Amino acid sequence: MNKVNLLQKLSLINDHWNPRIIGELNGQYLKLVKFQGPFTWHHHEAEDEMFLVVKGRFRMEFREAGDGESAQNGQREIWLEEGEFCIVPRGVEHRPVADEEAQVLLFEPATTLNTGNVKNQLTRQELGWL
Ligand code: NI
Repeated sequence: MNKVNLLQKLSLINDHWNPRIIGELNGQYLKLVKFQGPFTWHHHEAEDEMFLVVKGRFRMEFREAGDGESAQNGQREIWLEEGEFCIVPRGVEHRPVADEEAQVLLFEPATTLNTGNVKNQLTRQELGWL
């Protein structure tokens, strides 16, 4: 058994939107990633994703089925501060946005692609371990 220090691992990351694996259990990965700016709108067909803020803050924008008229522009957002997390349920369109750098822990199935149903320049197919 080894222990892992999140801040030490995060200090090794010098880019954005490029998740690294730091642990695996029960078919799920723990990943660390630094956010800056807006990500890509996407969803995951069959996977729930957890986002926990280790340092900084960001907002998760999301659209749920049925939001249309009730939410402004059919879109909602929640701000996540240090020590807070959210779980994005499968099927929900989401986009993390970090006005300033945010350092984030992800917990999700090993098969989860960062951009979900979308493939673009932000897609990371093969993730390295830290
Ligand atoms: Ni996602």
